[in-house]
Amino acid sequence: MHKTHPNGKSPEGAPGAIRHARAYELLSALAFTGSRRRIFGRLVALAEVTAEDEVLDVGCGPGYLTSLAAQAAPAGRAVGVDVSEPMIEEARRKRASANCSFVVGKAEALDLPDASFDVVLSSLAVHHIPEDARARAFAEMFRVLRPGGRVLIADFLPPQGRLARHLVGATTGEAMRDNPVGRIGPMLGDAGFQVGRTTRTSWFLHCVRADKPL
Ligand SMILES: C[S@@+](CC[C@H](N)C(=O)[O-])C[C@H]1O[C@@H](n2cnc3c(N)ncnc32)[C@H](O)[C@@H]1O
Repeated sequence: MHKTHPNGKSPEGAPGAIRHARAYELLSALAFTGSRRRIFGRLVALAEVTAEDEVLDVGCGPGYLTSLAAQAAPAGRAVGVDVSEPMIEEARRKRASANCSFVVGKAEALDLPDASFDVVLSSLAVHHIPEDARARAFAEMFRVLRPGGRVLIADFLPPQGRLARHLVGATTGEAMRDNPVGRIGPMLGDAGFQVGRTTRTSWFLHCVRADKPL
């Protein structure tokens, strides 16, 4: 049995895992104040998901983005992977379909074949991956993508100003308060990607698109 911190993270085995899946799903729907579909839809568009693509969503949580990707790829498929079993159970319960599936796994050690996806997406998850495992996670994304494949990483911009930083630090911890989103592009470059555009899809979301060379 995992012991769980008040912020819903498990301290054991998988330090970044969020175990309160239903609470997270509810908070996520509320936090986007009616814009979740538009904002996540933009991530799918920025990754240029097409009808036959095979898409992997890393740190998928309850699978909202995975499901949008599956809808954008009706002749392909979308797979969500998350280290938290409760998240994967919730994702399966709410969003599994003929071309949308979910598996438990770690971003930094994906149990998936080389060159088996056209697109890798990851939203709000990189800051949860332990810092010393992030380079491995980007290398894994590179490995599972086919040549010419695209990756789209979206993560929280760290709060600005002392009060906001204090509140975010107290409620969610330093990984989000000090989130080094500026390092995502260079780390993708180190993993072998050609780093492309950086976009803000909302005031708090920093998105980086990169491509695996042909
Ligand atoms: C803030 S949630 C984001 C969920 C979803 N992508 C979204 O945008 O709503 C971060 C997710 O990353 C997962 N996670 C944390 N560390 C991970 C790791 N090393 N590998 C895979 N998933 C991880 C957590 O369990 C959690 O579900």
